[in-house]
Amino acid sequence: MTLVEHYDTETAENTRLVRSPHGRLEFRRTQELVRRAIPSTGQRVLDVGGATGVHARWLAADGHSVHVVDPVAGHVAEAVEIEGVTAEVGDARALPWPDNSADTVLLMGPLYHLTESDDRAQAIAEARRVLRPGGLLFAAAISRYLSALETGTNGQLTEQLSTAVEEVIGTGRYDGHVGFVPAHFHTADELRDELETAGLSGISVYGVEGPAWPALDVAGLEEFDARVDAALRCARLVEQDPLLINASAHFLAVAVN
Ligand SMILES: C[S@@+](CC[C@H](N)C(=O)[O-])C[C@H]1O[C@@H](n2cnc3c(N)ncnc32)[C@H](O)[C@@H]1O
Repeated sequence: MTLVEHYDTETAENTRLVRSPHGRLEFRRTQELVRRAIPSTGQRVLDVGGATGVHARWLAADGHSVHVVDPVAGHVAEAVEIEGVTAEVGDARALPWPDNSADTVLLMGPLYHLTESDDRAQAIAEARRVLRPGGLLFAAAISRYLSALETGTNGQLTEQLSTAVEEVIGTGRYDGHVGFVPAHFHTADELRDELETAGLSGISVYGVEGPAWPALDVAGLEEFDARVDAALRCARLVEQDPLLINASAHFLAVAVN
């Protein structure tokens, strides 16, 4: 299945960060980590892999000028409807955007969809090219431990699935077994290395959801409001802890061009 087929037929990306407890937690923490690092308003933001504009929407409402680039035409058609947001079809590896023209680039999607390291390096190089000197890159990755934690907690980790889960922990090669396209999953150190190799500096890598996300999913949406504050505090406490950072479902790296 191609990327476009996956997003057109399998996944409603416009509700991904709403329909599950871990999605809601990811959304809240991503907002928190981005707002912590950028000026409160007035930034030129390029949202690469921005999908339907889930983050573009609140960034535009904060007073930033946001442009979404995404290869899925259906995503772009939704993003362009958001007030204050522009959008176009494009690829992280060849951005339709001039040099030194963005204060902030979000690369929150391409680094797990690009399974070849050369392609990820190209996407990061493109992000650097369009960023002004001193501009900030936010790069998201999926943890290699996501599958083990998710399927080990929700009861779906069968003997048969163990081999594929072991493979992703050991190599980062994810074969699509929990309802996603084949992808590359990172360790926190691997994400840092990819950004360092690309020449970025001042790199901080954060665990997004923290270790409580699988328990939130097991508790269900009806328990979300009662439990989310504790999960958020837990995530903040260990957001850069080298022993626990890989227990988040996602990482968000912040780096200076
Ligand atoms: C799981 S969604 C994440 C959307 C949003 N950025 C977020 O953080 O919730 C991944 C997105 O990356 C996009 N994507 C995949 N490959 C890409 C590429 N080579 N260049 C740009 N975007 C890509 C997909 O179309 C999809 O919209």
